[in-house]
Amino acid sequence: MKNLDGLEELIRTIPDYPKPGIMFRDITTLLADPIGLKKAIKGMAKPFEDGKVDAVAGIEARGFILGGAIADRLECGFIPIRKKGKLPWKTIGQEYTLEYGVDVIEIHEDAVEPGSRVLIVDDLIATGGTAEAAVKLIRRSGGNVVGATFIVDLPDLGGMQRLDALGIPRHALIA
Ligand code: PRP
Ligand code: ADE
Repeated sequence: MKNLDGLEELIRTIPDYPKPGIMFRDITTLLADPIGLKKAIKGMAKPFEDGKVDAVAGIEARGFILGGAIADRLECGFIPIRKKGKLPWKTIGQEYTLEYGVDVIEIHEDAVEPGSRVLIVDDLIATGGTAEAAVKLIRRSGGNVVGATFIVDLPDLGGMQRLDALGIPRHALIA
C-alpha cells in the first residue's frame, strides 16, 4: 500500500447487517492489517498534530481502539464515551438516533477538564447522530471540541454537515 487510498480495499462490506438494507462497513479487516492500521492512525491524527489537543474522546466500541492509539500519538490522555450503563462513576448522558436505532451514550461527569481541548475519534460517521451526541456531552462537561476524526464517512447520510453546523473541524480518510 503506497498511500491512504489503499485503505479502502482493507474494509469489508457486509450487506444487510445488522438489519436489512444496511451496508455495514467492517473495519476489523483493516485493523488486522499492520500497515493499514498504522496508516489509519497516522492519517486520522495528522490534522491535529499541532499540539492543541489536550485529550482524545473515543466512542465505544471501535472508537476505543483507534482513539487509544491516536491519544498515544498526540501524547495526550484518553476519555471513554460509552453506551448507557457501562461507566462505573457518575455520568452525564445524551440520547441520539442512528442509522439503525436509538441509543444513549455517557461520559463520566468529571472526565473532561473544563476549558480543555478535546478531539473526538470514531471509526465511522454515518448520520452523525453519535458524533453530535459526543459533541454535546463534551460541551456540557465544559470542554472545547477541537475536531472529530474518522476512518470512514458515509456522505449520503449527512453526518459531516451536522458537524459543520456545530462548528466542528472534521476529518475522514475515506468517503
Ligand atoms: C457505529 C460507528 C459509529 C456510529 C456512526 O457504531 O462506530 O459510532 O455507528 O453512526 P451515526 O453517524 O449514524 O451515528 P455503533 O452504533 O454500531 O456501535 P458499536 O461501535 O458499539 O458497534
Ligand atoms: N454505523 C452506522 N452505519 C454504519 C455502517 N453502514 N457501517 C458500519 N457502521 C455503521
